[in-house]
Amino acid sequence: MDLQLSGKRALVTGSTAGIGFAIATELAREGVAVVLNGRSEERVAQAVQRLQAAVPQAQVRGVAADVATAVGCDLLAQASAGVDILVNNFGIFDPQPFGAIDDAQWQRFLMPT
Ligand SMILES: NC(=O)c1ccc[n+]([C@@H]2O[C@H](COP(=O)([O-])OP(=O)(O)OC[C@H]3O[C@@H](n4cnc5c(N)ncnc54)[C@H](OP(=O)(O)O)[C@@H]3O)[C@@H](O)[C@H]2O)c1
Repeated sequence: MDLQLSGKRALVTGSTAGIGFAIATELAREGVAVVLNGRSEERVAQAVQRLQAAVPQAQVRGVAADVATAVGCDLLAQASAGVDILVNNFGIFDPQPFGAIDDAQWQRFLMPT
């Protein structure tokens, strides 16, 4: 498929594994330069290697940063400044009726500490 994304730059949060890694891999196949993210340098480096092996022409680099913290978000934002595409893959959730979610939970879901 050609999604006309060749030459773009993307950041995919939470992308050393699972859905995020799959998204990053497909973007790399489309010619997008991808930034992978996870919490540890080791897992990020492994994911970069895996993606490079799966898509030899991939332009990929990794940033270890915990996006559940404000410090990690700042670090990641600086290290991936100027990207064209942001895939906010990593998130936390707690399935329950909308009206039952209190302010403290909204803060936890949406505002890293
Ligand atoms: N799979 C489902 O059915 C489902 C359903 C609803 C929502 N979701 C949401 O979709 C997202 C992806 O799901 P998944 O099943 O692909 O998850 P997964 O396989 O567990 O992968 C989670 C990814 O997020 C990274 N990660 C975890 N905490 C992080 C943090 N604080 N900062 C940065 N990276 C972090 C992990 O990297 P490291 O471990 O290397 O740090 C890993 O790459 C999750 O946020 C999940 O809540 C999934």
